[in-house]
Amino acid sequence: MKSFSFKNGDTIDAIGLGTWKSDPGEAGKAVKEAIRAGYRHIDCAAIYGNEDDIGRALSRLFEDGEVKREELFITSKLWNSAHKKNDVIPALKKTLDDLKLDYLDLYLMHWPVAFRPGLTGAPKSEKDVLPIEEIPITETWEAMLQAKKQGLIKHAGVSNFSTVKLDELIKASPEAPEMNQVELHPYLQQEKLLKFCKSHDILVTAYSPLGSRDRPDGMKAKEEPSLLENPVINEIADKHGATPAQVLIKWAVQRDTIVIPKSSNPDRIRQNLESAKLQLSEEDMKRIRALDQHFRYLPTNLFRTKSGMYENIFDD
Ligand code: A2P
Repeated sequence: MKSFSFKNGDTIDAIGLGTWKSDPGEAGKAVKEAIRAGYRHIDCAAIYGNEDDIGRALSRLFEDGEVKREELFITSKLWNSAHKKNDVIPALKKTLDDLKLDYLDLYLMHWPVAFRPGLTGAPKSEKDVLPIEEIPITETWEAMLQAKKQGLIKHAGVSNFSTVKLDELIKASPEAPEMNQVELHPYLQQEKLLKFCKSHDILVTAYSPLGSRDRPDGMKAKEEPSLLENPVINEIADKHGATPAQVLIKWAVQRDTIVIPKSSNPDRIRQNLESAKLQLSEEDMKRIRALDQHFRYLPTNLFRTKSGMYENIFDD
C-alpha cells in the first residue's frame, strides 16, 4: 500500500475507509470489515453521527488483539458549531470519547464556516449561521494547534478549503495545515489546488471519489453525471479486468492524493482496497484527465443563508 509522509515522518495510507453516510449500526461493522481486510486508515467526523458505533467496533478489535491502536491512522473533524476557541478542545474530547481513543492521528476543521456555538443539527434560521469574521478561522486553528501541543492529536489540518482560504490561514498562522481534505474525482480535478498544496507541503485527501451517489437527495442536482457509469472509466476498467470504482480509486492514488472511498458492503470494501494492485498507464491517466468538467457533487451553496452569507464557499 502506497503511503504519504508528514514532516515528522508519520505516514498515512493512500487508501482509507470513508464513513460519511454510513448509518450508526452499519458504520462499526464496515470498520471491522475494513480492518480485517487490511485497511489501516479510517476517516471519521463528528457530524456523521456514527463515531460512537465506530468506537465500539475499534475497542472490540483492540480487545480481541486483531489490531493495535498504533497500527491505525484515525482522522476526525471539528464541526462548524464548535469553532470558538474554548469549544474546540471539548468538541475534540467528545469525539475521542465516542471513538474511545486517547488521541487522533489527524483532526480537521470540517468547513471554513461557523455556526452558532452549541447548535445541534442543521441551522434553522439565519441566526444559526455566523459570518466567518465573528469567529475567525485563525481563532479556531489556534485552538486546534493547542490540541496538538497537548498530544490529543498528532496532526492538524482542514477540509473544504480553497487556495484563497489556505493562503489566508498560512499567512496568519505559525503552522500551516498538514492536510486539506476536499472533493476530488475525474469530474473535479482541482489542478490549481493540488499545485498550491504541493508547494506548501500540504497533503491532499480526495473525498467523494466515487461520486457519493448515496448522499441525501437535497444535496443532488437534478441531472448529475455518473462517475461509475462514465464510458471512459468503464473502458479502462474492462481493459484491466477491474471495476470502475477501482479505476477511480487508483487514479486518485496515482495523482499522489489520499483517497477515502465509502462503503458499508463487505465485498466492495475489499474491492476498493484491492485497487492498490491496479496500475494505470500514462495513456489511461491522460484519458481520465480529459474528463474534468469542474463539476461538484456537493452543492456550492450548501451553507448559503437567505441574506447571501456563504454564497460560494469554494472561492477558488
Ligand atoms: P455501498 O456503501 O453500498 O458500497 P463515495 O465514496 O464517493 O462517497 O461513494 C460512496 C457510494 O459508492 C456509496 O453509495 C457506496 O455504496 C458506493 N460504492 C462504494 N464502493 C463501491 C464499488 N466498489 N462499486 C460501486 N459502488 C461503490
